[in-house]
Amino acid sequence: MKICCIGAGYVGGPTMAMIAHKCKDHAVTVVDINQARIDAWNSDDLPVFEPGLDDIVRANRGENLFFSTDIDGAIKEADIIFLSVNTPTKTYGVGAGRAADLRYVEKCARKIAEVAEEGKIVVEKSTLPVRTAESVKRILESNCNGRKFQILSNPEFLAEGTAMQDLEAPDRVLIGGDQTPEGLAAIQKLVDVYAAWVPRERILTTNLWSSELSKLTANAFLAQRISSINAISALCEATGADVDEVAHAIGTDSRIGPKFLKASVGFGGSCFQKDIYNLVYLCEHFGLPDVAAYWNAVIEMNDYQKHRFSRRVLASMFNTVSDKKIAILGFAFKKDTNDTRESAAIYVCGDLLEEQANLAIYDPKVSSEQIHKDLGIDSANPYVTICKDAYEATKDAHAALILTEWDEFKALDYQKIYEQMQLPAFLFDGRNLLDLSQLREIGFEASGIGRG
Ligand code: UDX
Ligand code: ADP
Repeated sequence: MKICCIGAGYVGGPTMAMIAHKCKDHAVTVVDINQARIDAWNSDDLPVFEPGLDDIVRANRGENLFFSTDIDGAIKEADIIFLSVNTPTKTYGVGAGRAADLRYVEKCARKIAEVAEEGKIVVEKSTLPVRTAESVKRILESNCNGRKFQILSNPEFLAEGTAMQDLEAPDRVLIGGDQTPEGLAAIQKLVDVYAAWVPRERILTTNLWSSELSKLTANAFLAQRISSINAISALCEATGADVDEVAHAIGTDSRIGPKFLKASVGFGGSCFQKDIYNLVYLCEHFGLPDVAAYWNAVIEMNDYQKHRFSRRVLASMFNTVSDKKIAILGFAFKKDTNDTRESAAIYVCGDLLEEQANLAIYDPKVSSEQIHKDLGIDSANPYVTICKDAYEATKDAHAALILTEWDEFKALDYQKIYEQMQLPAFLFDGRNLLDLSQLREIGFEASGIGRG
């Protein structure tokens, strides 16, 4: 079969690389309107950093994995077309700040209707609000000229930083489609693709809407766990309990489980907030304001946590950071990715810049251009310096803030860092990465989320 994926981003790129890797019989072409991105996918410097991705791309590119800007050509040839374009939160008009902006998806649907010479299977891979498939279907059907299109929903559950592992051994693959003979046949075709490496019992098939809603619900539940433990972290700080100990104690209850209970400076990433906003918007649309408010509180708690952290930094540092150098260690929304979308670091840096702090930022994978863009400043801004490592960032600093849990921050020589900082030297561990008692022994004024 010929597979085409429209959108060569964090989802489309890694997912298609894995499909090509596991299904040598299929030719997989990933297309994008962004020429620079496609050029990067065809170079040694991939646009997405993801452990293990380089090897798989290198092994399959040019064999049965292709990156191209010839969108029309790829659509014409394909049997299955994945839609993996971005679906950001709308910034304008009705639903601004909450609803998903579907213009890119709609453009793709119109493009497929325009150029496909015969019917295709179109697979939604982007995170989309429930019933988006219906819009895609309407666009395709009203322009079909006798062609038969089948729409499937195949939500992505991979987490950045572990995308290749998640793709190689997924907990489950979910495929939703129409429960008609044609719909079921299309579902089966996609099941066959995944069955090349995923055990059949892990491939779940549902109707379209269940599949779409499951994606939003999974992310809402995961984010809710983080907001729940973060809410408890505030209480721990107030009472002297240690949130890591509480998390461990509750996580050993098999009904609760140990994962996703790490208190943090707040969750980020492209999915959690966006998907919950989607869910909230849907609930409101369907006349369920109480349900909407319930889920919205997960986001409110996350916002509270990010600003609570900044307030704590300020309060500990004698209520003034003006003109002080503050080292920011980590800018990505989690370790092992260069993605900064909705990273808590953006909000914490924003708060500190409002207080006129001087920030010295170091992240192992995020580019300085990206940091400037996220902070809405240009490279000449005198308040922000991008550093080449953690030692440069902490030199003469009054405080160091760990905002991403990169492994290399665990291995730093904190004695050396302490000796080159201004005294009293503050260390705020936004990820509970370090042993605070050791840091205090060195001399740091150290605190971690929910650990005092
Ligand atoms: C998430 C979902 O996990 C994935 O299934 C979905 O397809 C996309 O959204 P991702 O955003 O890539 O994946 O990363 P994830 O590992 O879920 O982390 C999201 C955020 O939560 C990060 O900022 C992370 O640091 C934070 N987090 C995670 C915590 O603060 N505490 C935890 O215990 C776990
Ligand atoms: P995600 O995390 O969902 O993969 P990204 O923003 O990383 O999101 O990737 C989405 C990609 O989709 C971008 O590279 C963008 O250029 C591409 N894209 C958006 N609209 C179109 C379109 N109409 N045709 C082709 N590619 C598109």
